[in-house]
Amino acid sequence: MEKFRFLTAGESHGKCLTAIIEGLPANLEIDVDFINNELKRRQGGYGRGGRMKIESDTVEITSGVRFGKTFGAPITLVIYNKDFENWQKIMSSLPEDYTEEKSFTTYRPGHADFAGSVKYNQKDLRNILERSSARKTAIEVAVGAVAKLFLKQFGIKGSSKVLQISNATSEDDMYKAIDEAKAAGDTLGGKFEVAYENLPVGLGSCVHWDRKLDGRLAQAVMSIPAVKSVTIGNPNVCEMSGSEYHDEIFVQDGKISRKTNNAGGLEGGMTNGENIVLTAVMKPIPTLRKPLNSVDCATMEPTQAHFERSDTCAVEACSVVAEARIACVLANEILLKFGGDCVEDYNLEKFKK
Ligand SMILES: Cc1cc2nc3c(=O)[nH]c(=O)nc-3n(C[C@H](O)[C@H](O)[C@H](O)COP(=O)(O)O)c2cc1C
Repeated sequence: MEKFRFLTAGESHGKCLTAIIEGLPANLEIDVDFINNELKRRQGGYGRGGRMKIESDTVEITSGVRFGKTFGAPITLVIYNKDFENWQKIMSSLPEDYTEEKSFTTYRPGHADFAGSVKYNQKDLRNILERSSARKTAIEVAVGAVAKLFLKQFGIKGSSKVLQISNATSEDDMYKAIDEAKAAGDTLGGKFEVAYENLPVGLGSCVHWDRKLDGRLAQAVMSIPAVKSVTIGNPNVCEMSGSEYHDEIFVQDGKISRKTNNAGGLEGGMTNGENIVLTAVMKPIPTLRKPLNSVDCATMEPTQAHFERSDTCAVEACSVVAEARIACVLANEILLKFGGDCVEDYNLEKFKK
C-alpha cells in the first residue's frame, strides 16, 4: 500500500485546481512561500506562451495545516485559475448555462483529443482538452513542493537543468532555436536532467518488480504530459562497455565510496546512497500556431487543427514538474521504510552513506 497519496481535480479553465494529500506525518513545517516559489518556477522558462502572463499561481491551504504545521490530517491545496472570470459560463456545471462558445470539433494531433473523444464519447473536444491539459501540472507541483518540504527535513534536495532544446546544447543556441521556432509558428522539445542528493541507502526494493524504485521513478516522470523517454543514470549507457559503465566500489574513511555514478544512484531498484540522476526527453509542444492537418469530427472533412494560446517550448517547466513528481515518489519511499506519525519519529541518519 502506498503511504503518500494524493488526488487532484480541476480543469484548465475551471474555477480552481485542487489536491488532497494524505500520509504525511504531524509537525511538518509548511512554508507557503516555498510552495509558491515552486509554482513560479513551473511558470517560467524561455518559450512559454501567453497564459503564463495571465496566471500567477499561488496556493491556498484549506485543511491539514494549523499555524504553519501539519497535524496528521489530510492536507488540501487549492490554486485558483485567474482566467476563470472569462470562462465562468463556458465552464459552468449548471445545465441552464449551456453554450457552444469555445466548443471545438477539430482534433489537435499530438493531444488527447481524438482518443479521448472516442473513449468518453464526447463531441465537444473542449471536454477532453480541459482535463488532459498540462495546466493540472500546477497543482502537481504544489503537491511536490509539500513532499519536498518533507524531504528537506532529512537534508534531501532536488534540482534540475535543461540539457538540450532540439539540437542545441549551449544556452545561446537554445534561446535562438526557440526564437526561430516561435517566428515560424512551430514548437520544440528537448532534454532535461533531474538530480536528488543526500538520500539514505535502501529506498525501493529488489524483491518485487513493482517496488523497484527505478521503475517507479520512470513511471512518475514518463506520465508527465509530453515526456517520451526517461533514462536513469548515464544517458550514454548503450555505447558504454561494462568496464566503463559500472561504478567500482572503494572504501574511503571506513565508508563505501564510488568515483563515478553512471548508475544514477540506483542499483537493483534501490538507492545506493549516490545522487539519483535521471534524464528525460519532452516532445515538441503539439499545439502549433501554424496548424497541422487534421479532421473536423463533426463533418469528417479535412481541416486544420484547433489552435489555442500555447507554449513554443516548455522543457524547463517540464523539468520542474519532474522534480515534483520525483519528490512525491521519494516521500512515499521514506514513509514506507521509516514509518512514523510525527516528524520526530524519523531517524534516517544511520542509513546515510
Ligand atoms: C509544463 C508543460 C507545459 C505544456 N504546455 C503545453 C502547451 O502550452 N500547449 C500544448 O499543446 N501542449 C503543452 N504541453 C504538452 C501537452 O500537455 C501534452 O503533449 C498533451 O497533453 C498530450 O500528452 P502526451 O504528449 O503525453 O501524449 C505541456 C506539457 C508540460 C509538461
